[in-house]
Amino acid sequence: MSDVVERLDAEHRVIEQVLEALEQAAEREVPLDFYRDALRFLREYADGCHHAKEEEQLFPAMEARGLPAQGPTAVMREEHRIGRAYLARLAAHLESGNLAGLRGESLGYAALMRDHIYKEDEILFPMALSVLGPGDLARLAGGFDAADRPLARRAELEALAGRLRAQVADALGAGPAAPDGARPSGP
Ligand SMILES: [Fe+2]
Repeated sequence: MSDVVERLDAEHRVIEQVLEALEQAAEREVPLDFYRDALRFLREYADGCHHAKEEEQLFPAMEARGLPAQGPTAVMREEHRIGRAYLARLAAHLESGNLAGLRGESLGYAALMRDHIYKEDEILFPMALSVLGPGDLARLAGGFDAADRPLARRAELEALAGRLRAQVADALGAGPAAPDGARPSGP
């Protein structure tokens, strides 16, 4: 595997931590701040960092090597767009404190993204490795380095993913979800 694909693959594993947290939060008592932090992660890391590298760098490089612009990369772009619509609805539910809405949209987003990540891991990334040459991959690696700066912010978001996952695990023993979901989580 190339460094470029390995990096995107590793980001998928970080994003999956938050998808798992969102899925489990639907059945547990978590404070609204959990959703506020999750939305920040999804906007800044999943979309701002990860999808941006795919849309602005990987997909154009694949299309330049002959992949039709209306092919698999178009499907992936469309799924990113649908994901952004989910994030907009999550933000609206957060604004109004609609916990049921947050839970429902979170589950929809997680299902979309799990299927999307599976398609990229199993189909799109192998396709990238078959069409991109060593020069393309080296250029993309440099572009990824630039996109990932500042690294401290990236590390902070990756740590946030782990904290969100742990926060929901801590809420496991808290019993059934409260109607207002406003009880503070553990330490
Ligand atoms: Fe991806």
